[in-house]
Amino acid sequence: MNVMTKTETAGARQVVAAPSVGHNLLAKPALMSVEDAKAMDVARMTDLFKNHVNPGQLHFMKLLGFNKVKVERAEGMHYIDQNGRRILDFFGGFGSLALGHNHPRILDVRQRFQEEKRHEIAIAFMSQYASALSYNLAQIAPGELDMVFLGSSGSEAMEAAVKVAERAAGPKRPKVVYAENSFHGKTKGVLAITDGQLYRADFKVADNTVKVPFGDIDAIERAFVADPEIGVIVLETVQGGGGIIQAPEEFWQKLRALCDRHGVIWVADEVQCGVGRTGRFFAFEHYGVVPDVTALAKSLGGGKTAMAAMIARRDVYMKAYGTPKTAMIHAQATFGGIGEACATAIETLNVLYDEALIDNSAAIGDYLLERLRAVQAKHPKIVKDVRGKGLMLGIEFHDFSQTLPMVLRPIVSVLDDKLKGSLSGFVGALLLRDYGVLVAFTEYNRNVIRLEPPLICGREHVDQFIEALDGLLSRGIVAIVKDFVKSQMK
Ligand SMILES: Cc1ncc(COP(=O)(O)O)c(C=O)c1O
Repeated sequence: MNVMTKTETAGARQVVAAPSVGHNLLAKPALMSVEDAKAMDVARMTDLFKNHVNPGQLHFMKLLGFNKVKVERAEGMHYIDQNGRRILDFFGGFGSLALGHNHPRILDVRQRFQEEKRHEIAIAFMSQYASALSYNLAQIAPGELDMVFLGSSGSEAMEAAVKVAERAAGPKRPKVVYAENSFHGKTKGVLAITDGQLYRADFKVADNTVKVPFGDIDAIERAFVADPEIGVIVLETVQGGGGIIQAPEEFWQKLRALCDRHGVIWVADEVQCGVGRTGRFFAFEHYGVVPDVTALAKSLGGGKTAMAAMIARRDVYMKAYGTPKTAMIHAQATFGGIGEACATAIETLNVLYDEALIDNSAAIGDYLLERLRAVQAKHPKIVKDVRGKGLMLGIEFHDFSQTLPMVLRPIVSVLDDKLKGSLSGFVGALLLRDYGVLVAFTEYNRNVIRLEPPLICGREHVDQFIEALDGLLSRGIVAIVKDFVKSQMK
């Protein structure tokens, strides 16, 4: 018997005949094995990415030179590529790598879990792992943040957060306040409170929302007073996608008081800034306040798995789902609280405290910020601002589209739209190519580079990063632009 399999040649789907195998009625399609995947070279990877993953995204990877890297291994602060080059990771998966890559205790706990043949999926039963993780999170979370919903992504945790808050606020107060330049995920529900036209595109999103400027307490008060239907406010404690933006120091205490006065439920999105990233477990702890609901993801998975959590005040949770009749309205999804992911997250939380990584985040973050300030002082025409808390820092470059020497303007004008006027793409590309350092970009503000290295980061890594950045900026804008343009010709 012959069966049909697909091959992918230049995007076209060719159907070819393949011989049948063994006694199976359905012969196995031409599948790759894990070993095939590991052995794949960059050319083949590019082909498959283009044909089956995201051809448009490949365009940006090419601009930055990221398409030339095949990561073979990752360890601690580094990726190791196909040529054995060690790439210093100051990107940190947008804050997903608090423990660094492949932390030995995380590998160990996962290996033991497998060797003991522990279960993963047990929706019918209570899970000891989900229970222990939820207990740990309630131990860490201040105040009455005691009730935990486990999921797999930040978007899922934020969906859960908005839903629990909306139900607790009740049908007479259905409106949700969110901030300019917010990012809360790309799933359909939270897209309504994610302020990015790029992501919103033309999707029809819920219209029970009110937008306010981030960190503007007077604007929020005006909104609350003007519209008594407002029942919920959702804010990132530090805006990540917006370009590492912090609210004024006194904002959070005032927000807490305002929410109490108006009976509005405050949801703090800590998906990126939580799990120790800013030098406290939750970023809101810097301000001595406690929200009604919060959400975590990213680093909660120990850099090894997908894990997310929504944590609500007990009374908020009980109001929303506290009876047998309402309990299943937003109960766990199929993979919510899955075994090994919970075990990994339990170990992650223990490692964070055992190795004093939150303290390290605060101390090394201060050191990095101080050294960044020195770089800014040395290159004031290039660096406009450096900011952030702990190991969630941003470098903002001046928009150089107007200051670039006339001779270079025609060259830059033919570059991709995303790069015009923005030095961050040029700097990021050259940091990787010439110094083996990886940094992250910011969709809403193209002039900002985000630094979110693992919390295991040491002074020596900061020194290496600063040396690279200073070395690159010392070339001057003209040379940086020329070097970048030359890199595009190859
Ligand atoms: C603040 C914030 N909220 C929510 C999300 C969505 O998380 P995920 O990409 O895991 O769905 C992100 C992701 O970057 C984020 O930074």
